[in-house]
Amino acid sequence: MGVEVSVEGLTKSFGSQNIWRDVTLTLPEGEVSALLGPSGTGKSVFLKALIGLLHPEQGSVIVDGTDITKCSSKELYEIRKLFGVLFQDGALFGSMSLFDNTAFPLREHTKKGESEIRDIVMEKLDLVGLADAGEKLPGEISGGMRKRAGLARALVLDPQIILCDEPDSGLDPVRTAYISQLLIDINAEIDATILIVTHNINIARTIPDNIGMLFRKELVMFGPREVLLTSEEPAVKQFLSGDRFGPIGMSEEKDDATAAQEQELADAGIGGGGTKDDFSEIIPQVQPNPGMPERKAAERHRQRVEEMMHELPESAQKAIRESQQAEDEIREERARVTSDNGNGNGDQNRSDDRQEQFAGSEANTEQFPAYRAGNA
Ligand SMILES: Nc1ncnc2c1ncn2[C@@H]1O[C@H](COP(=O)(O)OP(=O)(O)OP(=O)(O)O)[C@@H](O)[C@H]1O
Ligand SMILES: [Mg+2]
Repeated sequence: MGVEVSVEGLTKSFGSQNIWRDVTLTLPEGEVSALLGPSGTGKSVFLKALIGLLHPEQGSVIVDGTDITKCSSKELYEIRKLFGVLFQDGALFGSMSLFDNTAFPLREHTKKGESEIRDIVMEKLDLVGLADAGEKLPGEISGGMRKRAGLARALVLDPQIILCDEPDSGLDPVRTAYISQLLIDINAEIDATILIVTHNINIARTIPDNIGMLFRKELVMFGPREVLLTSEEPAVKQFLSGDRFGPIGMSEEKDDATAAQEQELADAGIGGGGTKDDFSEIIPQVQPNPGMPERKAAERHRQRVEEMMHELPESAQKAIRESQQAEDEIREERARVTSDNGNGNGDQNRSDDRQEQFAGSEANTEQFPAYRAGNA
């Protein structure tokens, strides 16, 4: 079962450069959360602070009852075993094959024998559609494949907390959808607490239970995804629609003169190139594939939201009611499809499906009989 991560008053600087301050949020156990924010606002730094790779000057990060900003390095080593992390750049070892990269945490943190390790590694590579690419080196594969290999490695210890830094970057839209579905399926299977850093608005709209956004060195908001998606906050609206006009500039925040100029252009009917999508029109959250268990966290999330409902803006309340209703309908339909198909051989079907989903020219180039034999 997933573990709650509770961040309180966290502040991080590098020398005199403050990155963010007083960040307080809780990743509820087993729920899926997303962190948005303009480039350079410190999202990756935040992830690294959550696993104790970077040291904030103030505040606390409580994981499983331990404040990892203050614990001993021995305690930190143990706590880290709860985490599976997909770093923004994949962080694969360049001289190791994908198989060895994926096996690394198992060899490092467990006493498992090589045959068991091979089974686990092949299962995870299969999950991300790379079962046939185990012998390749990171330098020999595409950026998207490296990303998926990084995800396989992040999953190999069956982590209770999964942190993914831009899991979609470098992936085409279809494989992004499969990775998103995979994260939801994994969440349903092992109830892991998940945090996804992303610029992908489609993911933000359909995957997480909660969304937060970093902007101008602060956490602007963190809460049920409907709250951010219906927000009237200018920076949030600008970010979602991907518009040039608004408080977010190319580098630092904009000055008043630029803002006035934008307003003039906008009044003259010239826009900032953003999408006209209505984000307050909530798309139902992606549900686990048929054959997967229900997400246990979905019910817990609903209870939590119910308790805070009266404090939320009316537009968010309305959106929450609508998405709950839509999700109930999808769940019913899903249950019907699952029972029609029977539950007997779900596993085999899933594995075959995954091969097909991710298979493409890149993944299917060569055969690796040795691994296949081991995986049989
Ligand atoms: N180890 C470091 N030493 C000094 N400065 C750093 C270090 N790591 C990150 N920074 C700075 O912290 C700031 C935030 O970086 P970070 O990588 O967290 O941004 P981000 O929000 O993840 O951006 P992106 O969306 O582009 O990935 C940047 O100004 C960066 O230069
Ligand atoms: Mg980053």
